[in-house]
Amino acid sequence: MSEAAVGIKSESKMESETDSEVDSQLNSLVDSQVDSKVEANLDSQAEASETAGETAGEPAPVNRRIVLVQRPHGAPSELDFKLLSEPVPEAGEGEVLLRTLTLSLDPYMRGRMNESTSYAPSLALGATMLGATISRVVASRHADFAVGERVLAHAGWQDYVVSDGSDLGKLPADLTHPTHALGILGMPGFTAYVGVLDYGQPRAGETLVVAAATGAVGSAVGQIAKLKGCRVVGVAGGDDKCQYAVDELGFDACINHYNDDFATALAAACPNGIDIYFESVGGAVLDAVVPLLNVGARVPLCGLIAYANETAATGGVDRSPQLLRAFLIKRVRLQGFIISDHYGTRFDAFQTDMRAWLAQGQVKAREDIIIGLQHAPGALMGLLRGDNFGKLLVQVAEA
Ligand SMILES: NC(=O)c1ccc[n+]([C@@H]2O[C@H](COP(=O)([O-])OP(=O)(O)OC[C@H]3O[C@@H](n4cnc5c(N)ncnc54)[C@H](OP(=O)(O)O)[C@@H]3O)[C@@H](O)[C@H]2O)c1
Repeated sequence: MSEAAVGIKSESKMESETDSEVDSQLNSLVDSQVDSKVEANLDSQAEASETAGETAGEPAPVNRRIVLVQRPHGAPSELDFKLLSEPVPEAGEGEVLLRTLTLSLDPYMRGRMNESTSYAPSLALGATMLGATISRVVASRHADFAVGERVLAHAGWQDYVVSDGSDLGKLPADLTHPTHALGILGMPGFTAYVGVLDYGQPRAGETLVVAAATGAVGSAVGQIAKLKGCRVVGVAGGDDKCQYAVDELGFDACINHYNDDFATALAAACPNGIDIYFESVGGAVLDAVVPLLNVGARVPLCGLIAYANETAATGGVDRSPQLLRAFLIKRVRLQGFIISDHYGTRFDAFQTDMRAWLAQGQVKAREDIIIGLQHAPGALMGLLRGDNFGKLLVQVAEA
């Protein structure tokens, strides 16, 4: 299956025409999207350690890893991270040594940096920042994994990791675009699939609204809802993102939430009200959505990224009475969900459907690739500000 046959719109190097074009495109992404202070800070740490061969395809002689050294108070800063340089670990009997090729950056990472009770444990201070990766087996003492094989792993923010294989996923042999296993065919795409179909229960002709509309989850949400015959209205942080949502993803409308007339424009784009609000954001977007909800509306509660950096209750006016009253009189069904609960029952159906939609060009996936492990902290900070345009990935080494 060729990339053209898959019909995927992507900013990733895999679809660009020449390597030099790719390099300049990706370097400009780095320039525009990485927090400059962090870049400087971690660049100097990286120089002090070892960066040889980082993108040249040569194995680095050391394992660079980025650890959490203090918990953020509000938005994360470069002071919360430290880049260490250590010997590359060795695989023991029954283990493999993995080289990280691509690291996925996701909003949940911000939550793990807090010390708080959640659906998953907090990251310990001094621990390597966690994250899903596409990794290559570079040494194997495990019967099921051969040297050179690429796998879906959870290496975190580092060059190398040793695994006993229990946390590794085999990539389908015909997967022409391996990084999709971190995005449209991985956790974010699966979240969209379960959220829309199982919790949103869309019917043809209904109106669905989704924010972070060009992000990893939101872009898939809107496209799946279109396939089910919905009117889809996106909300995104920029005119360029909104244009992409309409022109490339096929949304019926998309509203820039930074515009002063955002609430009015959203109402105008939803003349029949809102039947499904896929909630990933909260804040001002939720405020504008609630008055437009129809009787019997469904609200799959997927995330609340607008509050990701909040440290405590704001102490402002308590608006929960208005919110709850609206949900009562509109008989709204709001349900939170965590995607890890659904792998046992729904992942196979998702893979079948999503792979078919990709192959038929019915779903597109955009990637936003940052080059260099040392840029991961700045890129995560940018994700929380809306700097990313598509699924955010860090290229740690060349495939
Ligand atoms: N429940 C689960 O199991 C599960 C699983 C995966 C993801 N999620 C959630 O799904 C959401 C999207 O995740 P993703 O990986 O697809 O990230 P993403 O959309 O690729 O990136 C995050 C986007 O959020 C938007 N954003 C950030 N702050 C905002 C604010 N204050 N107001 C409005 N928009 C804001 C920005 O887009 P704009 O520039 O367009 O505003 C930003 O690009 C997150 O809330 C995440 O926590 C939940």
